[in-house]
Amino acid sequence: MSYVSLEEAVNLLRAGRVVGIPTETVYGLAGRIDAEPALRSIFATKQRPFFDPLIVHVASLTDVGPLVSRWPEPFQALAARFWPGPLTLVTNKAPTVSPLITSGLETVALRCPRHPLARELLTRLGVPVAAPSANRFGRTSPTRAEHVETEFSGQVPVLDGGLCEIGLESTVIDAKETDGSWNIRILRPGGVSRAELEGELYRQGIRFTLERAESAASPGHLPSHYQPTSPVIIIHRELDDGEILALVREKLGRHARQVSRLELGPSPEQAARRLYQNFRELSALGDNVIVISRTADQGHWEAIWDRIERASSLTLP
Ligand code: TXA
Ligand code: MG
Repeated sequence: MSYVSLEEAVNLLRAGRVVGIPTETVYGLAGRIDAEPALRSIFATKQRPFFDPLIVHVASLTDVGPLVSRWPEPFQALAARFWPGPLTLVTNKAPTVSPLITSGLETVALRCPRHPLARELLTRLGVPVAAPSANRFGRTSPTRAEHVETEFSGQVPVLDGGLCEIGLESTVIDAKETDGSWNIRILRPGGVSRAELEGELYRQGIRFTLERAESAASPGHLPSHYQPTSPVIIIHRELDDGEILALVREKLGRHARQVSRLELGPSPEQAARRLYQNFRELSALGDNVIVISRTADQGHWEAIWDRIERASSLTLP
């Protein structure tokens, strides 16, 4: 079992099976939210610890009601603007949402993907799906169907939706109200930038503060995550290959033979789309280190540098 049609994917999900599905960010490993064996199978397949909660994917904003017990005003505004799209909203869950999805937390993460096949699949299925990225825990997320296929040695049926348009995971946020003002926290930077969130909140006349928060409960935010098999090295100045290999030997005790330089280029959109695929292709060369030169981390670069830093094994000042 490997590649399946849209109809087969819907039928498999309906029957409580787990399917690799395309989204505009990265491929997900999906199971319907009301099928406990499917949810358990997601964790087993990914070798993911049960303390890391899953994102629920809905077909549209109207599906949110039965899943939550609170729906903050800024979420309504942001969902109206960015859904379907790469924005995940964390709020208090309804009692019916399985603790397997939320890892026993009182909150649930929700997202409405915009990939046309994901939308069609969710609409036809008629039930939301829980889906983490379709990679083994701690590894690079898949941005092509072939990546899912290889990651799970052909054991997981995959719906091929081509190369993911964005290439990095969604932005994850939560919101709390105090004294008529909203405190919005970015738990994970992603496909929707901080400036885009701010712009929309201003337009809607919402009083807010926006900050970056590191939540210990979210392994997606662990310092070490998204790692390819070859070490990623960040450099802050010009270094030749010999100098880099010597420093890698000294600091990591690793004897690599080659330096593979990854140029990010001027466009953050293109850099994001290709980042994980580049990690995979360069790792496949073997016996090497992947070297990236530090550039700006503002705007859409924030999410890219967040992932590169978590993927990296060493930073050379
Ligand atoms: O773009 C994406 O978000 C992709 C595609 C497949 O939709 N999904 C994805 O899922 O990246 P995953 O499981 O790899 O990452 C979900 C992140 C994790 O860091 C998880 O800890 C966090 O969202 N998360 C989920 N539920 C949460 C909650 N209730 N509170 C805080 N963080 C939560
Ligand atoms: Mg992931």
